[in-house]
Amino acid sequence: HHHHHHQSLPSIQPHVLIFPVPLQGHVTPMLQLAELFCLSNLKVTFLITTQTHQLLTRNNNIETRFARYPGFQFKTIPECPLDNRQQQPGSDRSLKDKVSAIVEVLALSAKPLLRELLFGPTKITCFVIDGWLGFAYDIANEAQVPTIAFRCSSGCSNWAYFCIPQLIEAGEVPFKDNQSEMDQLVKNVPGMDGFLRCRDLPSFCRGQDTSSCSDLKQFFINEIQRTKHSHAILFNTFEDLEGPILSIFRSQCSNIYTIGPLHAHLHYRRSKEETPSTDHSSSSLLRVDRGCISWLDQKPDKSVIFVSFGSSAKISKDQLMEFWAGLVQSKKYFLWVIRPDLLLGNDPDSPTPDEFLEGTERRGCIVQWAPQDEVLAHRAIGGFLTHSGWNSTIESIMAGVPMLCWSFLADQQINSRYVSEVWRIGLDMKDTCDRMIVEKMTNDLMDGKREELQRSVEKLSSLAKKSITEGGSSYSNLNHLIEDIKAMPG
Ligand code: UDX
Repeated sequence: HHHHHHQSLPSIQPHVLIFPVPLQGHVTPMLQLAELFCLSNLKVTFLITTQTHQLLTRNNNIETRFARYPGFQFKTIPECPLDNRQQQPGSDRSLKDKVSAIVEVLALSAKPLLRELLFGPTKITCFVIDGWLGFAYDIANEAQVPTIAFRCSSGCSNWAYFCIPQLIEAGEVPFKDNQSEMDQLVKNVPGMDGFLRCRDLPSFCRGQDTSSCSDLKQFFINEIQRTKHSHAILFNTFEDLEGPILSIFRSQCSNIYTIGPLHAHLHYRRSKEETPSTDHSSSSLLRVDRGCISWLDQKPDKSVIFVSFGSSAKISKDQLMEFWAGLVQSKKYFLWVIRPDLLLGNDPDSPTPDEFLEGTERRGCIVQWAPQDEVLAHRAIGGFLTHSGWNSTIESIMAGVPMLCWSFLADQQINSRYVSEVWRIGLDMKDTCDRMIVEKMTNDLMDGKREELQRSVEKLSSLAKKSITEGGSSYSNLNHLIEDIKAMPG
C-alpha cells in the first residue's frame, strides 16, 4: 500500500491520464512526467499507440521501468494506421503535413477510447495533454475533466508561437525566403526585439501564401484559448534559463509551471527514494547502441564532437556529404548518429557508414541511435552538433556541453537563436550547411571559442541542477502541481 506523505486525510488516490503525440521528442518527456507523478503516489494511465508501445517494450524494456509502480498502466490505442509510418522509409512529407496527418489519424483512432476513459466509471482526476491534441481537449471539456497542457518545446518558442497572430496582423509574417527579408529584425514578439530575425521564426512562417496564413492564425488562436483555459501549462524548462521571457508570457497566461529539466528532475527524485532504482532504461523507440561508449572511453577529455539531428529530421545526401567533409576536415573526433531513416528519399547509392569512415583515420564513430544522455555526460565529449530540438538542448545544457546548432524546423529555429545570442552557450549555423563552415565552426566550438562557451554553459548547468533539487524552483513547482492535483475533486 502507498504512503501519503502530504495528506492527513486518506482519500482516493488521484488518477492522472497522460496523452502524448506518439513521437520520440514527445513520448520521452511525458514518460518522465508520468514517472515523477508515480513517485508522488499518483495513479497514472499513459495513452499510447499499440506500435509505439511495442517499440518501447521490444527495444527498451519499458515495462520493467514501470513495473515498480503499481499505480501505473499503459492503455494502447488500437489499429492506428499512423503506425505504418515506420515501414515506409520513402515517405518524405514535410513535418507540418506530417503533424496534421498524425493528429488527424490519431484523433480517429483515439476518440472512442478517450470517451470510454473520460466518461467511464473509473474517475479521471485530471488529463495531461500534449499541446497539439486539440480533439483531446474537446472531449475532456465535454466530460468536465480538468486539463493540463504539456508543451514539449521551449518557453521562448511557445511565446513566439503565441505572438504569430499579431505578427500576421502587423504584416511581419509571411515573409519571403530571400536573404534580406530573412535577416530583418522581428518587431512584434515582446521580449525578443533586437535579436530575433525572421529566419529565427518557426520555419512554417516562411513564404506562406495568405490563405494558409489565415489557417495558421486560426490554429494558433485556438491553441491559445485551449491553454488559457487549462488548469496549468507545463514546460520542460527552468526559471533561471527562461524566467525573463516567461514573465512576459505570464502576463497573458498566468498558469505556467516550469518543472524541468525533467530527465534530471526524475533522476534526482529517484535517487531520494529509499530503494534506489536498478533500471534506468531509456524511452527510446529505436534500439540504443551502447558500443560507442567504449569508443569514447579511449578518447581524451573534451576531444569529441557528438553529432545528432534528433528523431525525425531528414537531410539530403548532399547535406550529409557537407557535414561529413566538414567534420573530417576539422580533424576532430566525432560520434555521429545516422538513423536508418535520416536520409531523404531511398537512395540505393547512399554511402554506408563504413564507406564514410574510410580515410578518416578512425576519427569517426557512427551509430544508428546513441544513449544520448550517457554520451553527453561522458568526459570525452567537448561539443554537440545538434538540430536544436528542445529535448536535446535541455539535455546538453544539463550536461554542460556547448552546442553548434543546425536547426531544422519549427521551434528549433528559435531555440538555436537563444543558444547563440541570449544564453551564449553555442554557435548558430542557421540556414547554412557548407563543408568550409562546418569545419570552421566545429573548430571554433572545440577550440577557439570553447572557453567562454564552456563557462556559460557550466553556469547554466549548475543553475539547472539547483532548480530540480529540494527547494529549487522546478522542484517546488512540481510539488505545487501535485498538490493542486490532489486537491482536485476526486
Ligand atoms: C521534436 C522537436 O525537434 C522538438 O523541438 C520538440 O519540442 C519535440 O519534438 P526531436 O526532433 O525528436 O523532437 O528532437 P529532440 O527534442 O531533441 O528529442 C530527441 C530525443 O531523442 C532526445 O531526448 C535525445 O536524447 C534522444 N536521442 C536522440 C537519443 O536518445 N539517441 C539518439 O541517438 C538521438
